[in-house]
Amino acid sequence: MSTGLKLVVLGAGSSYTPELMAGLIRYQPEVPVERLIFVDVAEGAERMRIVRDFAQRMLSASGTQITIESTLDRRQALKGADVVFSQIRVGGMKARARDERIPMKYGVLGQETVGPGGFANALRTIPVALSIAHDMEDLCPNAWCLNFTNPSGMVTEAMLRYSAIHTVGLCNVPINIQNAVARAVSKEPERIRLDMYGLNHLSFVRRVWLDEADITELVLSYMAGRQTTVANIADLPFSNRLIDAIRLIPNDYLRYYWLTRDMVRRQREDLEAGRGTRAIRVMAVEAELFRKYQDLTLTEPPPELAKRGGAHYSDVAVAVMASLTGGREREMVVNVLNRGAIDGLPEDASVEVTCRIDNKGAHPQPMGAMDLVVRGLVQHVKAYEQLTIQAALHGDKDAALAALVANPLVPSADVAADLLDEIVAENQPDLGRDWVR
Ligand code: G6P
Repeated sequence: MSTGLKLVVLGAGSSYTPELMAGLIRYQPEVPVERLIFVDVAEGAERMRIVRDFAQRMLSASGTQITIESTLDRRQALKGADVVFSQIRVGGMKARARDERIPMKYGVLGQETVGPGGFANALRTIPVALSIAHDMEDLCPNAWCLNFTNPSGMVTEAMLRYSAIHTVGLCNVPINIQNAVARAVSKEPERIRLDMYGLNHLSFVRRVWLDEADITELVLSYMAGRQTTVANIADLPFSNRLIDAIRLIPNDYLRYYWLTRDMVRRQREDLEAGRGTRAIRVMAVEAELFRKYQDLTLTEPPPELAKRGGAHYSDVAVAVMASLTGGREREMVVNVLNRGAIDGLPEDASVEVTCRIDNKGAHPQPMGAMDLVVRGLVQHVKAYEQLTIQAALHGDKDAALAALVANPLVPSADVAADLLDEIVAENQPDLGRDWVR
């Protein structure tokens, strides 16, 4: 086990950071963090101060010996880091609200990671993620980057293909499925293993194991009428008929692809009823959370944190970090380059897949061919993602239009063109470059 890790958190003013702190505390001493450096941009400075004070109280109350520093100077912070957690949101919640709102004007799904909203988010975020990766190449070339920044699959792929930084992309949906199965069969989550493959927010569990026993059929039959979802996604159930037919457990986000009409209707109803898009509701939850974080008697994350979709993400983040930095080997579902693990996807595409994680990295496990029912959709979305990455890297409007045309949630080429013009115009200040064509 290594000692004295320096962990840098980018976007530390996020209301999620106390959740990460709880994970770091829980995983002592397997994750021997000595220095924690919080970094944010100037707009996030006040939130970072509040989170830092609260994090300090959490550490003191639990008797955990970690020092916390905070800075707005990213390069200074990255010097000599062992692990970098990236959880940034370029343009803030306002930009997310825009990503959700613009597609809805065209009757299209408005979401921060899938559809045109995820596309806009990628255009803003990928250049920043790469500038972080290039700083890391200079200042901490051997550090691990654990990426939570959305859209996580595309951001992770861009970092892995266009920088030399060891990056692992993370998401809390797979672990939520694992925990839900564990609760359903009344066993410890560590004894449940998933064979899962696909893309971030587009993945499927093909097999579920309890120790060495295959309990897939039991779990599929249990799912009937008992489906759960992360807090940010409307809890419309997949029909039993669908699950019976496909014999796979879909990622919660498949609702956006397979129940599109009803999900779009829900979004429209929310707007009409004055409930706003998800970003607007998250802003209200955050206001409540930041009020609580300033309560000097509070030394643990408050229950309101469960209203965020990423609740419990530290179960993934800290466990992965533990295995990468010398703790025990684990099997977990994370985002890495495919390298032949899933047939029918490019070698250099990021995929969300069951991996064995040790101090050399996250090693994707061979999944063979994708099930026919989902193969086309996964390939379709991967093509859209790779075009989006090209568009973001080069500010290329042709690649951007091709990307939107290739997105299965965009209904026609005309709508794609209108969406693109509006997205580029509205995001201009955050795109950080002039767009060609
Ligand atoms: C899920 C997703 C994350 C996403 C989050 C949104 O956990 O896996 O990628 O960031 O939900 O939650 P929010 O509370 O921001 O809507």
